[in-house]
Amino acid sequence: MAAAGAAGVAAFAGSRIARILEPGSSVHAGTKLDTIKSPLSTTGEDLTPYQYITNYNNFYEFGVEKSDPAKYAGRMQTRPWTVTVEGLVSKPKTFDIDTLLKLRPQEDRVYRHRCVEAWSMVIPWVGYSLSEFIKQCEPLGKAKFVQFLTLADRKQMPGLSQSPINWPYSEGLRMDEAMNPLALLCFGLYGETLPNQDGAPIRVVVPWKYGFKSAKSIVKVRFVEKQPHTAWNDQSPDEYGFYSNVNPNVDHPRWSQKRERRIGEPVFKQYRPTLMFNGYGDQVASLYNGMDLRRYY
Ligand code: MTE
Repeated sequence: MAAAGAAGVAAFAGSRIARILEPGSSVHAGTKLDTIKSPLSTTGEDLTPYQYITNYNNFYEFGVEKSDPAKYAGRMQTRPWTVTVEGLVSKPKTFDIDTLLKLRPQEDRVYRHRCVEAWSMVIPWVGYSLSEFIKQCEPLGKAKFVQFLTLADRKQMPGLSQSPINWPYSEGLRMDEAMNPLALLCFGLYGETLPNQDGAPIRVVVPWKYGFKSAKSIVKVRFVEKQPHTAWNDQSPDEYGFYSNVNPNVDHPRWSQKRERRIGEPVFKQYRPTLMFNGYGDQVASLYNGMDLRRYY
């Protein structure tokens, strides 16, 4: 099945008129990326078809319906785009998106993607470990957390005035979580640059946590000493914690987390048990040794 998945990626990319990323060229959504295979890919699962990954989205800047991002995110300008690094670093820096694209080899990484709303997908992301970027940022020893802030532009994002979220969308990770090789700085999916609705031109993907930890369309990365505020926790602290590790034993007040629904699969096999840490426990459980995951939900 893994082989079928890889073949599917190639066939999909080949079936479209893909623009090739060449040195110095400008990159737009739908540009083919030059990728290598990652040993960190999840194997043995069917990939969620592209049309579901790009039409069933949460991106509240463009509206609250799952279909809104596909309808409205096309107007977001993803070039020029920079990511500013500030806070506890040896010196503040600004990275251009085309520099970040070429910082490390782009890897095809298949991960399970689990939303707190109890739906899931299997997505062939493209990117490299967030740790590689963090090394370039030269954080100081005092930095204990990293915060991600994303674009909030009323001219381009009709959803900003529809949701009471404390914009810009903010998310964060503890430094040891961010340095875990599974945490992905993501630039694409299915071998091409990210469609706008999936967080173009740059997002994070943290596969052992609920999807809301994976901030889209990042413009600022801040290294801080104290746990940063986060958008959904500000909005509803009893429902959305800071850690938000996928956990079948801790229900959300509105959604049981015991089972999940795999988007795009036939109804008879859509439902499946939720896996602790979304199935990535071997790689990440030790980050939480001695922590009460019911309290730190
Ligand atoms: N990032 C921003 N900037 N705005 C958002 O509304 N939604 C989050 C996360 N990142 C969100 C965001 C939520 S709730 C989820 S489940 C995932 O993005 C969804 O990612 P996907 O649409 O690519 O599946």
